[in-house]
Amino acid sequence: MIRYLAVEGIDGSGKSTVTGALVEALRARGRSVVAVREPGGTPAGEAIRSIVLGRGFDLDDWAEALLFAAARAQLAADVVAPALERGDLVVTDRSYFSSLAYQGAGRGLGVEIVRVVNEAGLRGIVPDLIVLLRIDAEKGLAREDERDRISVAGIDLQRRVAEAYDHLAAAEPGRFVVIDAARPVSEIVAEIMKLLEVR
Ligand code: ADP
Ligand code: TYD
Repeated sequence: MIRYLAVEGIDGSGKSTVTGALVEALRARGRSVVAVREPGGTPAGEAIRSIVLGRGFDLDDWAEALLFAAARAQLAADVVAPALERGDLVVTDRSYFSSLAYQGAGRGLGVEIVRVVNEAGLRGIVPDLIVLLRIDAEKGLAREDERDRISVAGIDLQRRVAEAYDHLAAAEPGRFVVIDAARPVSEIVAEIMKLLEVR
């Protein structure tokens, strides 16, 4: 059974929209759902979010990667682990796969070293299903309404991130499901609901 679901994709792929609608649909069916987003979800995590996404700091790439990992470790310990212990379904808008794609590939730090650092902080609390909302880098950026410190880096970063997500999904076909993000939100949500029923 799926207990921890992550929605991933490049900026503007529709993660927030899909996650919101999915959580609503699940709750309407009586599922106990804990919805989170990364970075954030704890007081320390929200403070880290304002540092790492705010436009006020010029961060070194490793400082950026470690801040994301720090917010994530706090969220896993304080929110995700207790929710899983209670038997709730955890749905997250982004996960450590965002760091593998953005910091590992996008910033060029290396996917494997970023994976090791994040998995050390997570202590086994990792998603068991990842839905990748797939869209062209150009279309994603065009859809985006707000620009943060990362998405202002532009189309080249967005392209490297999109390619990295494809590789991550191809490497783990058992854990990743790829969905065309150009489809209507209602169809995307229905497909994820079906997946949750089947698995
Ligand atoms: P993300 O969280 O991945 O950055 P958002 O959910 O904020 O993406 O969506 C970005 C924009 O695209 C929003 O204006 C949203 O309404 C729109 N959008 C999201 N999903 C779809 C979709 N499947 N079809 C058309 N527009 C969408
Ligand atoms: P998010 O709030 O999901 O923004 P968007 O709705 O634009 O996708 O994420 C903010 C930014 O943070 C986004 O550009 C991706 C970036 N990010 C990373 O670079 N690494 C990470 O580990 C995470 C969680 C996000």
